[in-house]
Amino acid sequence: MKKLIGFTAVLLMIFMIAACGSDDSESEQSGGEENAGQEDTGENAEGEEEASGGEGGEADLEIFSWWTGAGEEDGLNALIDLFEEEHPDISVENAAVAGGAGTNAKAVLATRMQGDDPPSTFQVHAGEELNQSWVAADKMEPLNDFYEEEGLMDKFPEELIDMVSQDGNIYSVPVNIHRGNVIFYNMSVFEENGIEPPETFDEFLQVAEELDAAGVTPLALGDKEAWTATQIFENVLLGALGPEDYQALWDGDIAFDDERVVEAAGIFKQMLEYVNEDHASRNWQDSAQLVSEGEAAMINMGDWAKGYFSNDLDMEVNEDFGYFAFPETEGDFMVISDTFGLPSGVENEDQVKEFLSVLGSVEGQDTFNPLKGSIPARVDADESKYDEYGTDTIEDFREANLAPSLAHGSAASEGYLTKANQAVNIFVTQGDAERLLESLETARAEE
Ligand code: GAL
Repeated sequence: MKKLIGFTAVLLMIFMIAACGSDDSESEQSGGEENAGQEDTGENAEGEEEASGGEGGEADLEIFSWWTGAGEEDGLNALIDLFEEEHPDISVENAAVAGGAGTNAKAVLATRMQGDDPPSTFQVHAGEELNQSWVAADKMEPLNDFYEEEGLMDKFPEELIDMVSQDGNIYSVPVNIHRGNVIFYNMSVFEENGIEPPETFDEFLQVAEELDAAGVTPLALGDKEAWTATQIFENVLLGALGPEDYQALWDGDIAFDDERVVEAAGIFKQMLEYVNEDHASRNWQDSAQLVSEGEAAMINMGDWAKGYFSNDLDMEVNEDFGYFAFPETEGDFMVISDTFGLPSGVENEDQVKEFLSVLGSVEGQDTFNPLKGSIPARVDADESKYDEYGTDTIEDFREANLAPSLAHGSAASEGYLTKANQAVNIFVTQGDAERLLESLETARAEE
């Protein structure tokens, strides 16, 4: 019963959000392009590749995600091509719904799941998004036998398998690991201004002040979708608390009035003083463009931005753009993992498993991830397929302390995240730290 109530609450929350942003989401749900005004995105738009095997649910396999448009779709398209080569008899429909971090896709998915009309398989973050939204509501099939048959049990890090498991059952297959605590920067801008990558919050704020004085926007932000700001805040929290206490915060063992959390809110506020004025009208790609054009120096973005810089904007890693760990989080790794599972009630179970098999294979992961900017979830992937950013990140992941992302569904339930995004959004405009922390605490009490 509790599960059902939780599920209904999540749905309600998602509908509320969908209703607030209905103008945007309507166009995006049809696979429309979100990056208005960008030259480089038009060519990818409108789902050209989206229905290679038919439309309107006629395909054998409907793959649901939010990977459409620049910086998002290249990896998925390559994975689908590989799948189609291996399975020419199975028709695929790419049912992607635009909007970063699943802003619109999650609402569409919730409606479909509630109406017992699940896609054949869908993108879902490892952790609470999978477990609390779908596993708890009994909407996913266990994949333990599949893992055994495919020999996958020792092919993913144990922590990751734990994140997609509940009560001994495994519910999805991770395709990647993205890192969230990265700052990408324009190397010429740093060089021209004699700036070195800052390691501490103080250094960051000092560098930001220098850049500001030189007439460069220090930090690019595009929080038309609120998750981009939530992402900055979670990284400040990780830096201020360290990985153990960061986890304890989401577990409810540390209060939001803890002095380090209060301090983190203050640092977040100071950072926001250095963002571009038009942040509220940009999405993540638009804001990343400010960095590529040299109008802004830095951006905190998950490393899907690396895929965007390299593949869509033709920038060279360590020549045109560099990267460093978010201040005070060196040695930590904010984990974001995209996974796919088998929803209950789909008719074409075998075909879904064929897709999960390709997605979980070395070849599948090494086809997808170099384009996506992420590292493979598998521990035995071929590192020669990755550039310097990729190999560096693979190495960091092995050594690092792992932390689950709030903004990308791992640390808390979808219902909590929705409220957190709202609270952060209000904070960005009003700057009231007390109100932000109170809202986060209240939302937790309501869980
Ligand atoms: C994340 C997702 C990434 C990327 C990003 C921007 O939630 O895990 O794969 O797509 O959103 O949309």
